[in-house]
Amino acid sequence: MNELAIFGGIPIRKEPFPVWPRVTREMKDSLIDTFENQSWGVGSETIDIFNTEFAKMQDAKFALSIHSGTSAIWICLKAAGIEAGDEVILPSYTFIATATSVVLANAVPVFADIDLETGNIDPASVKSLITNKTKAIIPVHTGGAPADLVNLQKISKKHNIPIIEDAAQAHGSMLNGKKVGAIGLGGIFSFQTSKNMSSGEGGAIVSNDESFIDACFSYHNCGRVRNGQWYEHHRLGSNLRMSALNAAILLPQIKSTSSDVLLRERSRKILDEGIGNIDGLVPLKLIKDTKSSNHIYIIRYKKEKFHNIKREVFFKAMQAEGVYTYKGWSPLYKEPLFSINPKEYPWLENIDYNGLFHDNTETFAQEQAVWLRQNHLIGTDNDLKDIINAFEKVTTVMRKSPDKFKNIIT
Ligand SMILES: Cc1ncc(COP(=O)(O)O)c(C=O)c1O
Repeated sequence: MNELAIFGGIPIRKEPFPVWPRVTREMKDSLIDTFENQSWGVGSETIDIFNTEFAKMQDAKFALSIHSGTSAIWICLKAAGIEAGDEVILPSYTFIATATSVVLANAVPVFADIDLETGNIDPASVKSLITNKTKAIIPVHTGGAPADLVNLQKISKKHNIPIIEDAAQAHGSMLNGKKVGAIGLGGIFSFQTSKNMSSGEGGAIVSNDESFIDACFSYHNCGRVRNGQWYEHHRLGSNLRMSALNAAILLPQIKSTSSDVLLRERSRKILDEGIGNIDGLVPLKLIKDTKSSNHIYIIRYKKEKFHNIKREVFFKAMQAEGVYTYKGWSPLYKEPLFSINPKEYPWLENIDYNGLFHDNTETFAQEQAVWLRQNHLIGTDNDLKDIINAFEKVTTVMRKSPDKFKNIIT
């Protein structure tokens, strides 16, 4: 086998992977049509059409476009009736917005551990954290893989606690034949640049509950109510509306995302087979009867199978081969922002977030998780072959000649 690129050999991959987001003729036409013929904001037909079509795409009765996924979580929490001091359970392995939205709603984030095999929130951990102050649970469909909503719904029903799905990465994901988002009380999506549907920035809320979505409407629109006066404000909301120009860019992607889902699913299968054959690299498990949007491809790296060579050394060798792998999220409770200033957030005063330690989140985030960017799943079979070859090439040398990696600084 060739020398590894990190030691001066020829890299497996010299070409970049497909560019994302794509710019299509349909997106340009839709954008220009709204630009020239419509209001760019309030009252635009484009926004109404997008809300209707996105609701259909996610098997929901209602959808509401929002300017970001982050704001969408805050809106859902407020619309679900979260009040000061309430507790909201969420995984300790997620993007920061899932947790900060809780704090911004004056509530207390309560972190649950994840399941090591799926990377998603562990219902058993959620169960152990329920108190009479728990007022919402936010499962995250990490990488697009549906969280275990079947077991979470049992907990939700037993304790009468609503589920708000963080489906920021899960456009088109399914559980038991139903798209995610509106399986619980409501859910959010993100259309930020890197997402499978993108308008640069953007978000949406979906739900089957009309009074919930009406409350969301109010919070996202300065506290106005549907059919109310322009200068009549019922809730402490904000202007969190999506621009019609963003909605115009997103509209044609409703169709293209449905075919991308199939392409991504095929790519995942090929990668799972190729990479899963390598002892010490473990593809994530999907729970029963689910389909993932396969936004990010995540596997687990077991260093004990590679003479305890650190994952970060493996990343360096992979990057040299032209395949960018990286660690992804850190345990959220370790983020510096959770060294709380009690003057700013008095309701969090006695909570020692930085002192938390969740076994699975720690193992997953700090040792095992290996992420591949979303554009790696929309390429050709040759692209996939290069990815698998890079994994094989690097791990073979690591297994045979571990001493070679001793001086690699990470
Ligand atoms: C899991 C998760 N939740 C929430 C968000 C926030 O979405 P946005 O970036 O649109 O605010 C993101 C996106 O980055 C995400 O990945």
